[in-house]
Amino acid sequence: MPEHRTAAPRHTLARLPGLAFGGDYNPEQWPEEVWQEDVRLMREAGVNLVSVGIFSWALLEPEEGVHDFGWLDRVVDLLHEHGVRVDLATPTVAPPAWFYRAHPEALPVTREGVRYSFGSRGAICHNSPAYREAAARITAEVARHYAGHPALALWHVHNEYGAPVSACYCDTCAAGFRRWLADRHGALDALNEAWGTAFWGQRYTSYEQIDPPRLTPGTCNPSQQLDYKRFADAAMRENFRAERDILHRLSPGVPVTTNFMTALSQCDTVDYWAWGREVDVVTNDHYLITDGRRTHVNLAMAADLTRSVAGGAPWLLLEHSTSGVNWQPRNPAKAPGEMARNSLAHVARGSEGALFFQWRQSRRGSEKFHSAMVPQGGTETRVWREVTALGAGLEALAEVKGSRTVADAAMVWDWHSWWAQSAEGQPSVDHRPQERADSFYEALYDRHLTVDFAHPEADLSGYPLVVVPALYLTTLSAGENLRRYVENGGTLVVSYFSGIVDEHDAVHPGPYPGALRDVLGLTVEEWSPLLPGETVRVNGPDGTSARADMWSEAVVPAGAETVWSYDDGPSAGRAAVTRHRLGAGAAWYVSTRMDAAGTASVLRAARADAGLAERDDLPHDVEVVRRSGDGGDYLFVVNHSARPARVPLPDSGTELLTGERTTGALAVPPGAVRVVGPDR
Ligand code: GAL
Repeated sequence: MPEHRTAAPRHTLARLPGLAFGGDYNPEQWPEEVWQEDVRLMREAGVNLVSVGIFSWALLEPEEGVHDFGWLDRVVDLLHEHGVRVDLATPTVAPPAWFYRAHPEALPVTREGVRYSFGSRGAICHNSPAYREAAARITAEVARHYAGHPALALWHVHNEYGAPVSACYCDTCAAGFRRWLADRHGALDALNEAWGTAFWGQRYTSYEQIDPPRLTPGTCNPSQQLDYKRFADAAMRENFRAERDILHRLSPGVPVTTNFMTALSQCDTVDYWAWGREVDVVTNDHYLITDGRRTHVNLAMAADLTRSVAGGAPWLLLEHSTSGVNWQPRNPAKAPGEMARNSLAHVARGSEGALFFQWRQSRRGSEKFHSAMVPQGGTETRVWREVTALGAGLEALAEVKGSRTVADAAMVWDWHSWWAQSAEGQPSVDHRPQERADSFYEALYDRHLTVDFAHPEADLSGYPLVVVPALYLTTLSAGENLRRYVENGGTLVVSYFSGIVDEHDAVHPGPYPGALRDVLGLTVEEWSPLLPGETVRVNGPDGTSARADMWSEAVVPAGAETVWSYDDGPSAGRAAVTRHRLGAGAAWYVSTRMDAAGTASVLRAARADAGLAERDDLPHDVEVVRRSGDGGDYLFVVNHSARPARVPLPDSGTELLTGERTTGALAVPPGAVRVVGPDR
């Protein structure tokens, strides 16, 4: 199977009845009397799955080799008695204080050479032999102890690999990096060539001379930085695999997961295409980032990316928040109804339920001001009322389980390309690949298209429309893949700064955009990034025009037709947006950062090429997503707007949350969610 392909998960969440509902449960923070109240309230809210033991290593192994499972046995038995299934963690993200006293070298070192201290969590050098051994031992102890427990539904390995430490730069890692490089590049000449060490006199004559990309006086070799991210990712995956294999051996038949954070920019150094192949069930954590963007669009994107990492199969939202988080500078509470919209939007996009961080809000520690299912204020609160309503709602939606979200278009995304263009020394610091992905995603979202993500070398033939935002690193085979896709009838939309370098971050020979020249039918003579505040006008067909900023360039069409051109600025008079008819398809190129209206206009034209009907009948900010299964289709309608919405329905059906029969059109109150299933 090619590297980029995601294997279908080997197991499903079949052990759970209906959709999963619950959260991280940290009973060790509470006296046992509270546990009784917890299980009573869990029943009241319809909780059927909780994640337990994520940070419990210090309690489960209070001294090296001495284990105490008594308290956790009582918790797991109690949950079982109350019909709550358990997603049981290996506690390897939080090694105990005694471990670090014995093995201070297992604390990770920053790029600047500073060693982290104990007192938080996730302080792990993933190449430390002492850590690897201790993690394998505690994993085996936990697995042996709980294998076969009837409450056990899922194994939860570690927690959010890559956060908060994405890579360690210690001497052990340096040695591991050298071995990894020798495996990857073979003879040293090949590495010298791949990294371009002729530049700035960086030539190596022995692998022993190579270090991690630690702090350097000037820009550190970007190819070395890129390979280091790959190495850090591989080390974490090796540790995940080691724990997973122990769990498979000692607790066969129980699926193993680790919670991802697919939202872009959260876990630098985790290539989720590769991780998707390793887990039995894909699970994800998602938190709203309050940075002025539309949070529900960002949520939809993360959910689509998670489903894509799962190869289109159902996945599970393992963490999100009932209300505010506590790790941003300012942490607004969720508005009434927002939590349910968030949860059900994840379900629309393939999640088999909705879990939260966390069940009961902590009284102590650094997350005491983070919202929870049971807030500090207890059950006489809006949050608790909304939690219980959501539990009932998920129960009413049980039949959607196993159905799959249907996508209309695809967006190409590759973590390696993102890493490569995050290095210093780029044409403009204002260019961020994630911004391009966000912006194109938002444009597709606003045109009511459901998007799958795909690796650049994946089979794209099932998608009428494929958007490629800033695929700076494009291998020749990815370029070939995109060309074949268009020749066979696909419609491609590519943004600037794509097709530039190979897998080692070396510029493809010849004019830009090396790997995509043929498919786009053009070359680019020179980039001319714009200064902050500088904008240019671009003119399109039929008198349309738009503003653009940040980037412009000198496009030289070679087969492509000019559809939009620069009116002013450094590229005045030249092509700004082009269209290349190739074989049975068309490839669009967008050479600047167009405003939202301009981008929408280009996508409208590309959509027509792709034969995708416009959905002008659907209101703005009303999300309409279809899941399809053996039992029929489920139409999720999430009204993010403050206005009542009316959505036309192809067939009559039953609205699952209200039980009402629907025919012709569906009325959705402001802020509400409706899910129409087959006629009963
Ligand atoms: C997650 C983490 C949880 C909790 C949560 C708070 O990233 O897995 O343990 O810290 O963030 O938002």
